[in-house]
This record gives sequence, structure tokens and C-alpha cells, in this order.
Amino acid sequence: MNQDQLKRQAAEKVVEFLPSGGVLGVGTGSTVNHFIDVLADVKGRFDGAVSSSEASTERLKAIGMQVLDLNSVGELEVYVDGADESNHQLELIKGGGGALTREKIIAAASKQFVCIADASKLVSCLGEFPLPVEVIPMARSYVARELVKLGGNPVLREDFITDNGNVILDVHGLEIMEPIKMETEINNIVGVVTVGLFASRGADVLILGDEAGARVITP
Ligand code: 5RP
Repeated sequence: MNQDQLKRQAAEKVVEFLPSGGVLGVGTGSTVNHFIDVLADVKGRFDGAVSSSEASTERLKAIGMQVLDLNSVGELEVYVDGADESNHQLELIKGGGGALTREKIIAAASKQFVCIADASKLVSCLGEFPLPVEVIPMARSYVARELVKLGGNPVLREDFITDNGNVILDVHGLEIMEPIKMETEINNIVGVVTVGLFASRGADVLILGDEAGARVITP
């Protein structure tokens, strides 16, 4: 199976983890795109979805799912999203698609975060995937210097502006031994909007598309 088929497998398995109704949280990325396709068959039982990006909103609307403002709904039962890396504690690196801020907000507002990915995303130590950091544009250079002090090599994502009007620094060369500590340190740099480390609120369940079938992992 290729990587895309493994993503599809994880997206199909997640149906077993969906509530019987209510409003769903929906993330962003190619794995989530598969999930939205799968959702087309069961969408009737949900009141709608809260979306983490303009791209997912468009896809949700295309399958006829109502997209709701997070401010108009209460706590979400389940949030489904992908990841760029996960360790065995289900601490994640996210933001490869640049939607990390809205993703983090929805994850925080959800009772359960179910992460879907192909098996290549499971790692023993986070950091091989460059860590995305969303930054207010005027703070870009300052934040970059602070990230260098933390041992990283920040690179501005070219020709990319987030849905919130900000830029992304992708931080290479980090070996993230203490994800919660690093998440806090980077969050505390003035000018940082969001760091793509999802450690203090990681996933509750990880569904991995694997050659042997979909694997369900809990911390
Ligand atoms: C977007 C994300 C995605 O979940 C992450 O990049 C994984 O993407 P894909 O499913 O395409 O591998 O965090 O901001």
C-alpha cells in the first residue's frame, strides 16, 4: 500500500470513534481530506462541523456539511485531525499545512482528540519534521533569533501566509526530548502566535494506517 492508501485506511477506521450526533471538530491536511470523503456517507447524523482551515471548510461544504463557528457551539465531543509526527505518548508535531493555530484551538475545545495518520508518522523522538511556529509578521526576525537560542534553525516558509494573516517559521534541527517544556518555552516568546507542538494537549487516540491494518494506539 502507498502512503495515501494508508492515510485512507486510518480515515476509514476513525468512523468507529465518532459520536452518534452533535458537532464534530475537523482538522486539515491530506489525511483529513480522506476523512471528509468518508464523512460524506455518515454526515446526516451530525449537526455540523467546526473547521480548522479555509481549505477544510470548502471541502466540508462540498459534501453538504454545515460549517459552524466555534463560538456558537459548546465543547466538542470529538476532534479528528492528522499530524506530521507523533511519539508514543501521542505528543504531536502539527502545522505542516499551516493550520496549527485553529487546530490547537479546536483541540483545546474538544473532549477527545483522535489523530489519524499513516504509520510513518510514529517516531520515538519528535523533531525530525521541522517544527512549525506561527508568528506575527513584524516579530519574524526577533522570534527567529530566540529560536536559534533554543538550538533550532528557523526557516521562513516561502510564499505562505496563514489563514490568520501570519507567517510560519519552520524550525529544523531540534531534538525534542521534553515536548511540554519546549512547547511552553516557544509559546512564551513574544510574537509567537502558536507553536506546532501539541504536547500539553496531545491526542487521546492515534489511528495509524499500517500494512497489517489500522492500528489504534493510546498513550
Ligand atoms: C496541518 C496539519 C496536518 O494535520 C499535518 O500537516 C498532516 O498532514 P497530512 O495529513 O497531509 O500528512 O497539521 O496544519
